[in-house]
This record gives sequence, structure tokens and C-alpha cells, in this order.
Amino acid sequence: MSDSSSQQFSIKGVPIKGAHIKRAFSGVQPTGGLHLGNYLGAIQHFVALQDSHECLYCVVDLHAMTAAHDPTTIAAHSREVAAAFIAAGIDTNKHIVFAQSHVPQHAELAWMLECVARVGWLSRMTQFKEKAGKDRERASVGLYVYPILMAADILLYHSTHVPVGDDQKQHLELARAIAQKFNNDYATGATGEDFFPVPEPLIQSRAARVMSLRDGTKKMSKSDASAASRIVLTDDADTIARKIKKAKTDPDFLPDNAQALETRPEAHNLLSLHAALADMAMAQSIEHFAGQSFAALKADLSDRLIDRICPLGDEMRRLMADAAALDAILATGAARARAIGEATMVDVRRLLGLIGA
Ligand code: TRP
Repeated sequence: MSDSSSQQFSIKGVPIKGAHIKRAFSGVQPTGGLHLGNYLGAIQHFVALQDSHECLYCVVDLHAMTAAHDPTTIAAHSREVAAAFIAAGIDTNKHIVFAQSHVPQHAELAWMLECVARVGWLSRMTQFKEKAGKDRERASVGLYVYPILMAADILLYHSTHVPVGDDQKQHLELARAIAQKFNNDYATGATGEDFFPVPEPLIQSRAARVMSLRDGTKKMSKSDASAASRIVLTDDADTIARKIKKAKTDPDFLPDNAQALETRPEAHNLLSLHAALADMAMAQSIEHFAGQSFAALKADLSDRLIDRICPLGDEMRRLMADAAALDAILATGAARARAIGEATMVDVRRLLGLIGA
């Protein structure tokens, strides 16, 4: 991680730790039943950043509390996310894997940023409107301010890059606006360097959106009533093969151009899954299957999924069987995260002029 010999920026003569580093931060909510969308849309991308960035990957359990909260399952679900990170190949010696609730500075910074962000900005967040549903009055206040906690997650570590699915774009925009307003209002230093880097989203283009296997117009989701609509990371080979066999199709052969896919959501989804798993451009997958039947595509897809997901699921199960070992990894990660986060908060409290800071 950062070392004191590397270049440091300063604000009003006080060094800012970490402001010079390429640092990636992302989070996954422990809601249970991680699926292919979580893997291809997020976790797989986290793994790829390890050589180029310092990475912090967080089990965002405080975010999971914004919807219906079950105290009897959240800890196990948090371990499931940690296990998925590790099984996917995140190196917890080089990078930081931890639980959000173990680092109280996230909540502290979130409060301060709530006083920076404007009500008008939050009221435009489309995900709140979707998640709150019809009865908005009964949504938790936490669900409303959720994007500000997310901004705090990112900014607490002076993160420069945020790998996310495209559904999080708007939240990232808000984090950028908050960073800019904080810098403007409190932290334009003598060196001209801004205190918070304005974080860049890293949106994965391939399979950023994994859709339901039962309805190609809906996102793959853990809350879908049909279990056949999603592939869970711990599904065994037979289950994966069965779900792909049952996946919805349409009556035509596969097309030879992308435009034809616009009105064929299931063909689009299965081809884009193929592209993601084969690490091909979508155009290559289209070309490969042009004129063929869905059966050919499904057979190929099923094999690739089994090759990729089954070893991951096996490793997750192995890791989850030893809760104490996972908890120890998370405790180490939290200690490292707290050290960085507290250094940021020392600066933030001082920039805000709080007594004694
Ligand atoms: N809101 C993100 C999601 O649901 C999870 C998240 C929380 C996150 N904090 C974050 C993602 C910070 C990136 C950075 O997917």
C-alpha cells in the first residue's frame, strides 16, 4: 500500500495521504445469493484492477440495511461476499477486503457529506425511486441518503477509480459532484491540488448488464421470484445446465448483425453472456453464431459457465465453511482500512474547522 517515500500532495501545508495514488474502491451489498450478474458486472472487473491499482473492496453491509434488514442473516451474507471476492482471485495480502461496518469513519464522513450534498441532487436519483416503489413515504431515510454513504465510501480513501455496473453511474456522478463541492467550499489548497480526487467510474462494457434468463428485458436479480431467472455463484453444474436449457428464447435463428438484436432481448442477453465469458467483443460472438440455432449457443454457453462458475462456487463453499478464517481476513482488512480512513478524517475535521481538529 502507500509508502511515505512516494510523492505527497498537501493542503494548507498539511500532507494529504494517498492523493497521488491510483486507487480503486468498490462495494458489493451482502444481500445473499450472489449471482452471475454480480460476478460478470462487478467482481470479475475488481480482479482485473489488481496489478494497476491499489484496491479496496468492501462488503457494504451498512448499505444492505437500507432495505428490509434481517439481523439473523447479514453476517453470513457478508461472509459470502468476502468469499466471492477471494474465490474470484482478489489477493487480500496485496489489497484490502473488509466490511463497511468495521470502519466507523464511513458513517462519520457520510454525515459530513450529507451537509455538503443538496436535497435537489438526491431527489433526482432514479434508483431511489425504483427501490422505494409506490409508497415512497414508507421507504427508510437510509435508502434516500444511500448515495451519500456511497460517496463517503469512495472519498474516505481518496479513491481515484470506481469499478461499477452501469446501474451505478448516476450515484458516481453524485459522488463526483460532492467531491467537487467539498473541494470548492473547504479545500482548495495553496498548492491548487484538490483534497478529494474526483473519482472516475470504470464501467465494464462487456456484460455490464446481465439480464434475467426468463425475461431479457429485466436485469438478473436476486429478488426475481423465479430461481430459473438467475445463475447463482454456488449453483452446481447440473443446475447451471438446466437453467440455460430452460432460458427463454425466440423462434428465429440467431442474426448476423447487432441491430437485429435490438428487438430480440433474449438473443441479445445470451450472446452478450457468451461474449463476456469467451472474452470476445459482442460483434465476434454475433459473427460466430450467425444463422445458428439457440441450441448451439446454449450448449456453448452452458459449458463455459460450468467451467467458470463451478470452480468459483466450490472455492466459495470451502471458504465459507471456515467462518473464523474469513472473519480474520476481514478484521485485518478493516484495520488497514481504518488507518487510511482515520487519516482522511483527521484532515476532513480540520478542513471543516471542528473544535480541537
Ligand atoms: N451501490 C452499490 C451497488 O449496489 C454498492 C456500493 C456501495 C458501492 N458503496 C460503493 C459501489 C462504493 C462502488 C463504490 O452496487
